[in-house]
Amino acid sequence: MEVERVQTIASLSNNLGTIPQEFIRSEHEQPGKTTFHGPVPELPVIDLAKPDQYQVTREIVEASSEWGIFQVVNHGIPEEVVKEFQRVGRHFFELPQEEKEKIAKQPGMKEGYGTKLHREPEGKKTWVDFLYHNIWPPHFLNYNIWPQSPPEYRKANDEYCKYLVPLVDRLFEYLSTGLGLEKNVLKEASGGDNMKMLLKINYYPPCPRPDLALGVAAHTDMSTFTLLVPNDVPGLQVLKDDHWVDAKYIPNAIIVHIGDQFEILSNGKYKSVWHRSTVNKDLTRMSWPVFCEPPADLVIGPLPQLVTDENPAKFKTKKFKDYEYCKLNKIPQ
Ligand code: SIN
Ligand code: FE2
Repeated sequence: MEVERVQTIASLSNNLGTIPQEFIRSEHEQPGKTTFHGPVPELPVIDLAKPDQYQVTREIVEASSEWGIFQVVNHGIPEEVVKEFQRVGRHFFELPQEEKEKIAKQPGMKEGYGTKLHREPEGKKTWVDFLYHNIWPPHFLNYNIWPQSPPEYRKANDEYCKYLVPLVDRLFEYLSTGLGLEKNVLKEASGGDNMKMLLKINYYPPCPRPDLALGVAAHTDMSTFTLLVPNDVPGLQVLKDDHWVDAKYIPNAIIVHIGDQFEILSNGKYKSVWHRSTVNKDLTRMSWPVFCEPPADLVIGPLPQLVTDENPAKFKTKKFKDYEYCKLNKIPQ
């Protein structure tokens, strides 16, 4: 079956100056009506190279509890490594359509090139095409569904991972000690060396009505946490104190989202953040989230060390794959 990609719809829409009805969000979701322009604090920005590492831990804990999201700078991933990783990803989306379709996502598969086929409950679609593939651990990768073009695609991804994995480990440690636990506890509870990392590349083509459409609708990530690099076209919005606020673009920063599994493991101390993505009238926005996920069969629940009579478990304990099934099928957890 031929699937209509948003990239194709966008090139027609941009000529017409309008977008198809199914992309027009309900009023309570339209960015033009719901973006908050009042005075708001900026998303926390945390400098990981600060000499006082206790202070870094405190800032991460505060950001994870108050916002569920923060940006990190001086994180150790060289700028040229990120740039090359982004270049090869963008190159893929700019290939002729038939090239991209060679790795189209098949029904029931998690990985591959795609477009959201199911409409959301209100019958609306989102202004984005994407590519999903695992990037860690190495033995878990299926290079058949990775782009073959450009030829440097695999090398650029491997190189990014080489720096991303130690950063992920370091963030696990801050978040673990921040809960008053030994530094390895949170990583072990998330699968240890069997933890997985799934890359998604979001490609949001220019949209003639960015006030009416959304690239990604409001959601929380079901990961433990997500590390994202955007391109320089802003669009990420975060729900803070019931307001949709823009995340500022900070060159070379990595955006860290707390996901549902950390909210559960920390028994609610860390908050998984509600966020969405808007689109741009003239420019292509892109983002590269990496979802850190527990192995499918791992059981996740509030860490026993954090559950007391005064602070009882706030979440159910279940296998990650069951959590995922319920979330994707909108079954209450
Ligand atoms: C997402 O949450 O899936 C995307 C967010 C973004 O593009 O910044
Ligand atoms: Fe997300």
